[in-house]
Amino acid sequence: MAKSGVRPYRSVLYIPASNARALEKARGLEADAIIFDLEDAVAPDEKVKARVLLAQELGQQDFGPRRRIVRVNGLETDWGEADLAAFQGHPGVDAVLVPKVNTPADLNAVAARVAGPLWAMMETAKGCLNAGAIAAHGRLEGMVMGTNDLAKELGARFRADRLPLLAGLGASVLAARAEGKVIIDGVFNAFKDEAGLRAECEQGRDMGFDGKTLIHPAQLAIANEVFAPSEAEITLARRQIEAFDAARARGEGVAVVDGKIVENLHIVTAEALLAKAAQIAAMV
Ligand code: COA
Ligand code: MG
Repeated sequence: MAKSGVRPYRSVLYIPASNARALEKARGLEADAIIFDLEDAVAPDEKVKARVLLAQELGQQDFGPRRRIVRVNGLETDWGEADLAAFQGHPGVDAVLVPKVNTPADLNAVAARVAGPLWAMMETAKGCLNAGAIAAHGRLEGMVMGTNDLAKELGARFRADRLPLLAGLGASVLAARAEGKVIIDGVFNAFKDEAGLRAECEQGRDMGFDGKTLIHPAQLAIANEVFAPSEAEITLARRQIEAFDAARARGEGVAVVDGKIVENLHIVTAEALLAKAAQIAAMV
């Protein structure tokens, strides 16, 4: 498996591994990463065929700079073991995404069977309660919220503000940030509702998520835009750095920009924002 590199994860598109047309289409889509799904998006009687198709496609097709993540079935299912065997050492796979991770032991079981980075679906109550220990796993690269499964297990209702899910979302963001891991928000099911998607992307971005998982290509542009620094943010970051440098030159430790104080910690944030913008600009 390829080595992990620093890159944005604004848009992470699910593609059912059983869908040959979608697999082909994926090579031309503006997704930062792709999750090739063998789990929930594939019906039980399609599982074996999907695994064979995906192993073949990932071996033959060039997905360019997009990170290639395979979501396998859980080891407690009929297909998990064979999924891992099929993708162990596969040159077309960058990471394996483990569904319904409850404890670090669930990651250990997968880590014993495949090399390379692992990702964890955060989609059970137990998993969210153990988020810190899961994020600390040495092989873990990133976490993905499974908000549909989490809502189902909690008995939570759908609400546009996602209030019932905020505890699980927040616990997972805290855990990922504590351990320096990537964290991606859950999907927005109504793939024709652009305003709803935008609002949910903005909420996830404001909470600290790196990006959003998506189910349809029509959702890509909005996620890519919302999770990228805007022109206004870039301009402000530059002005903050300039003002802070000038304050330093005067022997002061604090600057003021637009009536707000700018301290060293804000400069760290401003520099991270500019680095992210440069990273995105370098991709296109
Ligand atoms: N990735 C890549 N291409 C996709 C895609 C995806 N996730 N979803 C749809 N497409 C393609 C279709 O193949 C179609 O291509 P074409 O017109 O060039 O032939 C085009 O985008 C338009 O698709 P559309 O007709 O609008 O949607 P659909 O009815 O074919 O599919 C879904 C709708 C929701 C069933 C489909 O988007 C899907 O399966 N999404 C992924 C679901 C998933 O992975 N769930 C698990 C995680 S929650
Ligand atoms: Mg799930």
